[in-house]
Amino acid sequence: MTKPTLLIVDDDEDIRTQMKWALAADYEVVVAGDPGGALAGFRASRPAVTLLDLGLPPRPNDPGEGLNVLGELLALDSTAKVIVVSGQSDKQNALRAVGAGAYDFLCKPVDIDELRLVLQRCVYVAELEREYRAMQQTQGTDPFEGMIGASNQIHTVFTLIRKVAPTTAPVLILGESGTGKEMVAQALHRRSSQKSGPFVGINCNAIPENLLESELFGHEKGAFTGAHTQRKGHIEMAAGGTLFLDEIGDLPAPVQVKLLRFLQEKRFQRVGGRQELQSDARVIAATNANLQESVSAGKFREDLYFRLAVVVIKVPPIREREEDIILIAKEFLHRFRLQHGKPTLAFAPDALLAITAYAWPGNVRELQNRVQRAVIMAEANRVTAADLELSGVVNGTPQTLKEAREHAEREIVRSALRRHRGKIAPAAVELGVSRPTLYELMERLGIAKDLER
Ligand SMILES: Nc1ncnc2c1ncn2[C@@H]1O[C@H](COP(=O)(O)OP(=O)(O)OP(=O)(O)O)[C@@H](O)[C@H]1O
Ligand SMILES: [Mg+2]
Repeated sequence: MTKPTLLIVDDDEDIRTQMKWALAADYEVVVAGDPGGALAGFRASRPAVTLLDLGLPPRPNDPGEGLNVLGELLALDSTAKVIVVSGQSDKQNALRAVGAGAYDFLCKPVDIDELRLVLQRCVYVAELEREYRAMQQTQGTDPFEGMIGASNQIHTVFTLIRKVAPTTAPVLILGESGTGKEMVAQALHRRSSQKSGPFVGINCNAIPENLLESELFGHEKGAFTGAHTQRKGHIEMAAGGTLFLDEIGDLPAPVQVKLLRFLQEKRFQRVGGRQELQSDARVIAATNANLQESVSAGKFREDLYFRLAVVVIKVPPIREREEDIILIAKEFLHRFRLQHGKPTLAFAPDALLAITAYAWPGNVRELQNRVQRAVIMAEANRVTAADLELSGVVNGTPQTLKEAREHAEREIVRSALRRHRGKIAPAAVELGVSRPTLYELMERLGIAKDLER
């Protein structure tokens, strides 16, 4: 495993030597003692992290010197990770530095254990960001029909859409709330041979049972009280295009019978009508309910289920496609920060950790809502876990050094396991530990159970 490069900028030679000595086991350490050296060292070594003392010659008492260097480093590479070091009395400037784009700050005297931890986290976040950029550059993140995702799971969905869209077969889309079922339906329509026809959606549980039948099939004048005129139903309106039946699990029994007939024969009658009508609308249905269970419970007709489920597309929840979470979060951040006039807003490290740790029961929709709210709430340049209302997720700020260390370890081990899809051997190689040690670590940190994810 290659060690990440660390650039230490400090005018005090003793401090440089001490730190170099303490960190050389984990980092390729490069040192500089003044602004010129810092920039040259940065250009030459492209460090993963830079540790920057704010008080630099020629004016060591003026933090402006260090802030200038910070600005120049970020101008060279806007993604540079710079941790600033300031005097105790100079926290104000340290905060200014963070506002200007520094990753974090430490106060003197620097505690070496704390420094190790901050560095570890910083490298981890840099790695996440690097992966994100790499993914953006490969085919992965070019949104597919507006859908963002680079995970294998979502690519399976994209592949199915590509294959199935041109056929006229009915499709059943399954997935938890907010996973993107409607987006999948629209993608199917846009890639179908009927794409120039209408896309007509109807939410089966939003319409009272007694109205649903006439909404779907239409009605003749006088078919029931209040039916003053003849009306076309959604099936007729969707002719030449796609009929999207959302929340299909809630379809009342009499409507199920009629829909089955339509699927079998492409024929139907309006409510109160005798005339046989035809529609070539392609049917796509979606539900977040367990339809097979409804079938077993006798609530949903089995024959209708099989008619609808000629092709089934399962949209996995985002907690099962962790690669996509950060990707989607960053894309939403990007959209909303422009929309809300805060173009330089970025996620703070704790926000990224919380986003990867949270289970996202509301999936993409929840992610979207939280990011939007956070963009509005965020102060300075950072969106924090608190802005996302996720501060409890990573057990808050670790209380003791031991907790902090365990927390960082857990993140690092989990991320390595994720990258290697739960495979122990390559993850151990990446982490630079033996396999037994990795097993031990996982046991101690309580990660074993997460492996399936
Ligand atoms: N992969 C994705 N990339 C970008 N945006 C997405 C993605 N998946 C879903 N979204 C967005 O998330 C929101 C929810 O998606 P959608 O309405 O398609 O989900 P759904 O499964 O139909 O939800 P529900 O079960 O609540 O009906 C929408 O705003 C959609 O644009
Ligand atoms: Mg929906």
